[in-house]
Amino acid sequence: MSTPTTGPDVLGAPVPRRDGRVKVTGTARFAAEVPMPGLLYAAFVHSTVAKGRITGLDVAAAENSPGVALVMTHRNAPPMAAPPAFALHPMGASGDNLPVMRDDRVRWNGQAVAVVLADTQERADRAAELVTPSYAAEPAVTTWSAAKARGTARASNYGMPLTTVSGDADAALSAAAVSVDHTYTTPRESQNAMEPHAATVVWDGDTLVVHDCTQLVSQVAVSLAEVFGLRPDQVRVSAPFVGGGFGGKGLWSYLILAAAAARMTRRPVRAALSREGVYRLVGGRTLTEQRVAIGARADGRFDAIIHTGLMAMTEHNAVPEAVTSATGALYAAGSFRLEVDRALMDTVANFYMRAPGEAPGSFALESAIDELAHELGIDPVELRLRNEPETEPVTGRPFSSRHAVEAYRAGAERFGWSARSAVPRARREGEWWVGAGTAAATYPYVRFPGGAARLVLQPGGRVGVEAAAHEMGMGTATVLAQITAERFAVPLTAVSVSYGDSTLPGVIMAAGSQQTASLAAAVAAAHRELVGGLLAAGAAAGTGSPLAGCTADTVATRDGGLCRLDDPDAWEPYDALLARAGLTELRAEQAAPPPAEMGAWSIHSYGAVFAEVRVNDVTGEVRVPRIVGSFDCGRILNARTAAGQFRGGIIMGLGMALMEETQVDGRTGRIMNPSLSEYHLPVHADVGDIDVIWTGIPDPRTPLGAHGIGEIGIVGVAAAVANGVYNAVGVRVRDLPITLDKLL
Ligand code: MOS
Repeated sequence: MSTPTTGPDVLGAPVPRRDGRVKVTGTARFAAEVPMPGLLYAAFVHSTVAKGRITGLDVAAAENSPGVALVMTHRNAPPMAAPPAFALHPMGASGDNLPVMRDDRVRWNGQAVAVVLADTQERADRAAELVTPSYAAEPAVTTWSAAKARGTARASNYGMPLTTVSGDADAALSAAAVSVDHTYTTPRESQNAMEPHAATVVWDGDTLVVHDCTQLVSQVAVSLAEVFGLRPDQVRVSAPFVGGGFGGKGLWSYLILAAAAARMTRRPVRAALSREGVYRLVGGRTLTEQRVAIGARADGRFDAIIHTGLMAMTEHNAVPEAVTSATGALYAAGSFRLEVDRALMDTVANFYMRAPGEAPGSFALESAIDELAHELGIDPVELRLRNEPETEPVTGRPFSSRHAVEAYRAGAERFGWSARSAVPRARREGEWWVGAGTAAATYPYVRFPGGAARLVLQPGGRVGVEAAAHEMGMGTATVLAQITAERFAVPLTAVSVSYGDSTLPGVIMAAGSQQTASLAAAVAAAHRELVGGLLAAGAAAGTGSPLAGCTADTVATRDGGLCRLDDPDAWEPYDALLARAGLTELRAEQAAPPPAEMGAWSIHSYGAVFAEVRVNDVTGEVRVPRIVGSFDCGRILNARTAAGQFRGGIIMGLGMALMEETQVDGRTGRIMNPSLSEYHLPVHADVGDIDVIWTGIPDPRTPLGAHGIGEIGIVGVAAAVANGVYNAVGVRVRDLPITLDKLL
């Protein structure tokens, strides 16, 4: 297959990743690899109680250990303000708003109580073992039952209570011809990006320079400025390569401590967390307990959907697991009651992890729909299609572009759904029971305000694009180059891309599956500005120019230049236009327009997941040899990187379905499996054939017609697997992960 590299076909083409070669050859420099003369390495001492006071911190042995430059504790750490928390402050990046190393308080088991700096990582690690804290422990809430007993309250998301009520769902449920009503649970999960969290920091006078692995450079810079009492321009955060984020690469205490320690020692500091360190200091997905009750008519149409969730948070963070988000978007129903409550625990702050809300929420909802399908004797695909809404449920807002039914039908066809037995335990191959399950998926379209980009038109029809965006491995640099090449009608090779630095334009989080929309809107705005400027400075005023009198509104781009919209033959290349303007290059920077499309329309990505599931009759092991993901996510801007995003999300969903669970010792609140040997993730041997397809229908309301694709891949996968397990062996598992003990 040939890959278009210019012209109108460059968008959507399977363009290989720009960062691919430097990553596979090991020359991409990650945050923990930035060389610095005189570098000190940080090691962290973690509390071993969940709550209480530090009563003793003997640091003498550590201070006298070879190579040690500093042992920092709350006794000698410099003044620092509490970091602004994500979702509580417009530029908050921190997982929580707790002060870092300001007092003798311990708030979770694993909190950093001392930082040791030494001239090698090994010497720092050794010295950290010599620090011997003692504690006056206080009663802590470290079990889910204790948290619930302490009391629950309605959770809020960005200040909005997570409550949606339409009609009388409880009455409708009681009156329904057929109903299901079950409780589902999902466990705590920890962040396990391939690159553990790391930063290399150095003070340049009063300026803090941070090489970080973040997915929100601008917010981290502003948040660090607040912590250290600096102007925002006194902090520079650079993160050109990020080895996976999934929501976890925000601002966490290790980075604040590294910056403080660098200030104290007047030397550069590297804080590269061990895998265990990530579990102790970085929050992951919280646990949930959900009730889903659906009342239906005999023909399958829903009269009532009740979905209530209870999940754990801490007092100090503001990111609930909004488990009902998908429920409010997927199905028509006569009435709804959707509510999310929280109970507080003394743990590291929970945080966002790929499709927070939708991933655990869809496990409950889509399992319940499967259960209802069996009660009704209706095929699970057909049941979903019968409840397809015409407008957004509850709000009644019009859909901008919804082709969920097409995606469902295409996925069912591709998978071969019609060959599935409706009756469980119908197919066996040797020791293996074979089944199939399906689930629907959705994820909201988001475009945060703050998108901006700078474009630089250079000699020879070269274009530079600069934005404070992030490359976490999903293809940002590549797609940004495609978007820019298409705008200018220049070859991909003529576009250079700068990103991953807080000094670049825009506030562009790689989160909420919104980065590409933000960039597309910003590039379009900056391009318009640049073209207008180019015409105003030269051709528009010039005599003899084919573009005389033109404005940004009356030209188009074609073949490395501009032409009249009404006469494509009236064309000039960029070099000629720059020459008319007396310029060697031209820059334009512009903010994206406010995301008005989000208020006016119901905009979502959609998907349908189909899983072939095998359960071993002897051992209870579950295998998933085959998954089909069929998506409706607007226009796909790069067929190769999009497929990678979908597959990656599906694999993460397999982990959620079958393996992932952060084990906490209820007596102490300590995470007991902080390693990849004890916290299981899918490895290659666990991943079978994953086939992804999409409708590719552009959305007329969104930048470039695209929807987000970063998170929807994980949504629905756990339910599809659970439903497949039921189809294989007739056992309904309502508690993730589906481990073999639950099937024997
Ligand atoms: Mo995603 S959890 O918004 O990085």
